[in-house]
Amino acid sequence: MSPSATISEATFTITPMKKSSNDKHDYGAIVSDIDLNNINDIDVRHLADAIWTHKVIVVKGQKGLAPIKQWDLEDCFLNIAKHEVVGIPGAENVRLIGKGFQGEDHYGIKNKNITKPLSHDWHEKELPQDEFEKGNTRFQRWHMDAPLYGRDPAWFTTLRCIKRPTEPQVNIRWDDGSGLSMKVEPGLTAFISNVQMYEMMTEDEKKMADHSWVEYAPHPYMWIGDCKGNSNGLGLVSQGKEKELENLGDFDPKDIKTYPMVWVNPVTGEKAFQVHGICARRLFIRSSPTEEPRIVEDLVEIRKLLKIIQERVLKPEYILIPSLEEGDIVMWANYQMFHTAIDYPDWFGPRTMHQANIASSAGPVGPVPIPV
Ligand SMILES: [Fe+2]
Repeated sequence: MSPSATISEATFTITPMKKSSNDKHDYGAIVSDIDLNNINDIDVRHLADAIWTHKVIVVKGQKGLAPIKQWDLEDCFLNIAKHEVVGIPGAENVRLIGKGFQGEDHYGIKNKNITKPLSHDWHEKELPQDEFEKGNTRFQRWHMDAPLYGRDPAWFTTLRCIKRPTEPQVNIRWDDGSGLSMKVEPGLTAFISNVQMYEMMTEDEKKMADHSWVEYAPHPYMWIGDCKGNSNGLGLVSQGKEKELENLGDFDPKDIKTYPMVWVNPVTGEKAFQVHGICARRLFIRSSPTEEPRIVEDLVEIRKLLKIIQERVLKPEYILIPSLEEGDIVMWANYQMFHTAIDYPDWFGPRTMHQANIASSAGPVGPVPIPV
């Protein structure tokens, strides 16, 4: 993908997201004056460039968008391999996400009531239900949308807000001893930038990250199926509950994913420290192209190493939680960011979102080649 400078101007408007004086995040933009039902090829290119450049964009006013168009748009972005998800009738690659009653007829889905367990059952130290009911919540699980086995991760994820409660605010607690918390409207998605994370690293850490790589477990989510996460949503608690590889069923060693620690943004050239720690099984650490890598297989050591780097950016001032009105679509660069859901009590009201991931035509590329 080449930068947009080589093609004619976009017809839509891009405005950086408003920041408060405390905010230190350096990404996020609002896209307006665009109708995704009728978008031309040039604007699709500009939109893709805008996602890579601004990392998280909110496309305003797409209330009339047909679900199939959310998918078609992604079809436009790239010539992609379609993958299976349970979805909206007629647009099966668009997934319905939400909670509560979805209406008598939601694009052909009749009288659906989405009930699910408290999302915080993922945390090793669970948030007590009575505190949750009062509006206290947590970041569920920081992640990128990535199978990390077989297929490469999607470049972008798009999430259209159909309906959500806007009040009262929830109080997000870290519950990790830091005492940190932040208040926000319910039903939104939080982001941290792994580019900012990279920029916060020391020169020695950057040199190490630039030359190192990560091997993910086969069927990684099955591998961690019995594991629990930290209260701040970042990383796993090490309890030795990872499944033995022989208990993961059949897997093809060719499908095991090995990626550079650092992923380079194809449009801006920025580097992101993009390590999905919860699925990492082995690290190969070196600080130059010629050094013999040190192989780290001890999960406690892997997680300690990652936590030191990744938690630096897990502060309210670096977290962006863009507000969404009904009809807005948030789109983000999955190769640059981590995101997480933030649950809220059922009594706040139902939530309906349509999510679609855009498969990639090219996997992540590191700053230097890795010998795998
Ligand atoms: Fe996700």
